[in-house]
Amino acid sequence: MNIVSASILSADLCALGTDVSRAEQAGCDHIHFDVMDGVFVDNISYGLPVLESLRKHTDMFIDAHLMIVTPEKYLKRFARSGADNITFHLEATDDVQGCIDTIHSCGKKAGLAIRPKTPAETVFPYLSSADMILVMTVEPGFGGQGFMKDMCPKIQAVRSEMERLGLKGHIQVDGGINASTVKMAADAGADVMVAGSYLFRADDMKAAADILRNA
Ligand code: DX5
Ligand code: ZN
Repeated sequence: MNIVSASILSADLCALGTDVSRAEQAGCDHIHFDVMDGVFVDNISYGLPVLESLRKHTDMFIDAHLMIVTPEKYLKRFARSGADNITFHLEATDDVQGCIDTIHSCGKKAGLAIRPKTPAETVFPYLSSADMILVMTVEPGFGGQGFMKDMCPKIQAVRSEMERLGLKGHIQVDGGINASTVKMAADAGADVMVAGSYLFRADDMKAAADILRNA
C-alpha cells in the first residue's frame, strides 16, 4: 500500500484547520507542506509561522517540501516549527550531505528532491542516507499541472539503484497525481503519493485517497 500525502497548497487556506481535519478523516497519511520562496521557484506560498499553527492543530505527520534556495539556513527552524520530514532540493544547495545530516541531527526524516530536468544519477550518492527521494513529476511551483509521464523511467532508475544497494527507501512523487496517473507512478516504483488538487477538489476525499493508496 502507498502512503498518501495531501498537499495543502490546494486547500482553502482561510479554512486550513478544517481542510487538514478533512484530510485526516479521509485517511490521508501525511500533510504535504509546500514552501516556496519566489527564487527557487516562481511562486511564494507560506512558511514557518503557518507550520507552527498547523503543528498545534494536528498530530498528523507533516512533510515539508522546501522549494527554497540555501535550505541549510532554515532546516533547524523547520524542524523546531514542527515538520516530521524535511525535503529539500538537490539543485538548491552545495552541501547535500550536510543538509541530510542536519535534518537527522534534529531527529527528523530527510527527503531529497529533484526537478524534472535533474538526472536520477545525481541522487545515487545519497540513497543510503536520505529517507526519501522526491522525483518531481511537474516543474515545481504550482499545483494543478499535468503529470509528466516521462519521469517514470527516472523513478524506475532510482528504485533499481535502491534495490541494487539493498535499500528500502521511499520514493515520493509530487505533481499531477490523480486516479489516472497514480498507477504509472506506482508501477515505476514510487510509494509516497502527493496530491493536492485531486484530493481537495474530490467530491469524496476518502474515496480519492483510497485510490491513491491502493494503486
Ligand atoms: C508543486 C508542489 C506540489 C503541488 C501538487 O510544486 O510541490 O506539492 O501542490 O499539486 P497537484 O497535486 O495539484 O499537482
Ligand atoms: Zn510539493
